[in-house]
Amino acid sequence: MNNILKIVNIKKSYVDNSKPLKILYGIDMDINKGEITTIIGPSGAGKSTLLHIMGLLDRPDSGDIVFKNKSVFSSSDDELSDIRNREFGFIFQFHHLLSEFSAIENIMIPLLIQNIDYSVAMEKAKILLKDMGLINRQYHKPMHLSGGERQRVAIARALVTEPMIIFADEPTGNLDRKTGKIVFNIMYNAVRERGIALVIVTHDRIVEKYSNKIAYLVDGKLQNHYYMGIEDET
Ligand SMILES: Nc1ncnc2c1ncn2[C@@H]1O[C@H](COP(=O)(O)OP(=O)(O)O)[C@@H](O)[C@H]1O
Ligand SMILES: [Mg+2]
Repeated sequence: MNNILKIVNIKKSYVDNSKPLKILYGIDMDINKGEITTIIGPSGAGKSTLLHIMGLLDRPDSGDIVFKNKSVFSSSDDELSDIRNREFGFIFQFHHLLSEFSAIENIMIPLLIQNIDYSVAMEKAKILLKDMGLINRQYHKPMHLSGGERQRVAIARALVTEPMIIFADEPTGNLDRKTGKIVFNIMYNAVRERGIALVIVTHDRIVEKYSNKIAYLVDGKLQNHYYMGIEDET
C-alpha cells in the first residue's frame, strides 16, 4: 500500500585492518508515500551507511532495494544517478553546499543538472528561498550564512526537484538546540505540505514526536518499529 521504497535484507561490512567490520546485518524497511520515518541510533551504529545505501549513494554487499516496484541494482550507474537527481533529495549534517556559489545558485543546481531552463530554475529557487525566509540572503555564499540558514538552503535544494523522498542525515546535528528545533519544524512542515516521504537518521530522540514511524538501529539491525501519531508543534 503506497509503498515507494523497499529495503530487503541489506548487509554491509567495511574492511578495517584487513578484518571485515560488519555494520549492517540484514535490514528490512518499507518507505511509504508521504510518511516520515525516523531511524535512531548512537554514533557509529551505521546510520549514515544505511541512509547512503537507501539513497543509492552507496551499494550494499547483499540485499535488494526496490524503488517503484523495480529492483534498482539491475540499473546502470547513470540510471541510479538519474533516480537520485529526479526522485530523491538529500540533507546532510554538514550542509554540503558548494562554497563558490550563492544560496540561490546552490538551490538551482539540481534543476540545471536536469537541463531545466536557467530562468525557470531561478524562479523555482526564489519561491523556495521565500518559503525558507531567506529571500534577503539569496546572493550570500555559504560562508556568509549562519548554520541554521545554511541548513534552510540545503532543505530548499532538496525540495526544488519535487522529489518523492528526502533523506536527512542528522540535519540538525551541527546546530544549537533552539536553531535545531526551528530547522526541524521548517523541514517537517515542508515535506508534509508536499506529501514527500522523509527518512531521517539521528541520535537525537527529540525527533520521535514528529515521526509516523520509528525504528532503532541496534547491533546492525532495526528493532522496535512502531507507528505513532504526530504531535503538532506550535
Ligand atoms: N568507508 C569506511 N571504511 C571503514 N569503516 C567505515 C567506513 N565508513 C564508516 N565506517 C565505520 O562504520 C561504522 C558506522 O559508521 P556510520 O554509518 O558513519 O555510523 P553513524 O552514522 O551511525 O555514526 C563506524 O564504526 C565507522 O567507523
Ligand atoms: Mg553518521
